[in-house]
Amino acid sequence: MKDIGNLQEFSDKLLCVAPMMAWTDRHCRTFHRLIAPHAWLYTEMIIADAICFGRTSRLLEHGDHEQPVVLQLGGNDPLILSQAALAAETNGFDAINLNVGCPSDRVRQGAFGACLMLQPKLVAECIKHMCDAVSIPVTVKCRLGVDNHASYGKLADFVGYVSEAGARLIVVHARKAILTGLTPAQNRDIPPLDYSQVRQLKSDFTSLSIVLNGGLNDTATVKEVLSWADGVMIGRAAYRNPVFLRELDAGLYPGKHRDNFQSLLNQYMAYMERELHQGTRLHEMTRHLFGLFSGLPGARQYRRYLSEHARLRDAGVETFVRACSEVERRAA
Ligand SMILES: Cc1cc2nc3c(=O)[nH]c(=O)nc-3n(C[C@H](O)[C@H](O)[C@H](O)COP(=O)(O)O)c2cc1C
Repeated sequence: MKDIGNLQEFSDKLLCVAPMMAWTDRHCRTFHRLIAPHAWLYTEMIIADAICFGRTSRLLEHGDHEQPVVLQLGGNDPLILSQAALAAETNGFDAINLNVGCPSDRVRQGAFGACLMLQPKLVAECIKHMCDAVSIPVTVKCRLGVDNHASYGKLADFVGYVSEAGARLIVVHARKAILTGLTPAQNRDIPPLDYSQVRQLKSDFTSLSIVLNGGLNDTATVKEVLSWADGVMIGRAAYRNPVFLRELDAGLYPGKHRDNFQSLLNQYMAYMERELHQGTRLHEMTRHLFGLFSGLPGARQYRRYLSEHARLRDAGVETFVRACSEVERRAA
């Protein structure tokens, strides 16, 4: 593993893996837990109504081995959110996070996600109801603002309302959301990042935990941010390059027992074996491992082998082993 310097001076800070729809499912979180034993893992956003009126236990499915794990909720109804939060607590989640950052059309039409930044009093009511219903922490993930309503003053007002309502931790994706004309993917790249507003929040709300998210994909920047923030949340870089996630966890929390890379793979293979017996398809689990060897000779052949073979109906763990041998063969 690369020497990534003295991140250990920040070992009291939080490392979080971002909620990512269709990516951070329970298989992905199982893999991330092996890679980063001390990170806080977030679920994909789950709509509160679906938890209250749908297949609750399926939606809240997760393993004890994933902990600490945070359930991210989408919604805008204080009562429904508080019922969903209670279901999450009862099912063993360690914290709740309210999504106030998603800009998708579907979410906007439901009047939640990023557009809730324009309704700080409603968000505060939602937080208060959830805090009254559960004893686990209730947190918020938001943007810097939306459309033309993005100023530091408005952001600080929003944070003031939700922290007074009981949120003790806010994750800020450090760019505004543009609600018309951009896809969710463009909304993760086009509005410029501005870490300085998040830093200002930390100075103005000293007792609130502030976690910065957005564009963190190198150790030097993570280190700089941790010099003033309470934590970092990594999204795409953690998913696409698990080795980066592993290096951050090892750099921040040194001295703890850490399995070697082969042992991690063996543990994930044992997990896949168990899941295959329960009817999970191999591809559902290996799709999160496409970035495993990124940058190494043979990585392309590894990915190609997996894409061609892991979807086959009877594909078993040996398909994954065979894909890995593409990398080993080229390294030899
Ligand atoms: C595929 C994908 C799905 C996402 N789904 C969610 C989500 O369900 N809830 C949420 O708050 N953010 C979601 N995000 C945004 C991330 O949590 C994060 O805020 C964003 O990617 C910026 O962080 P990064 O630059 O480290 O990737 C998603 C991002 C991606 C790439």
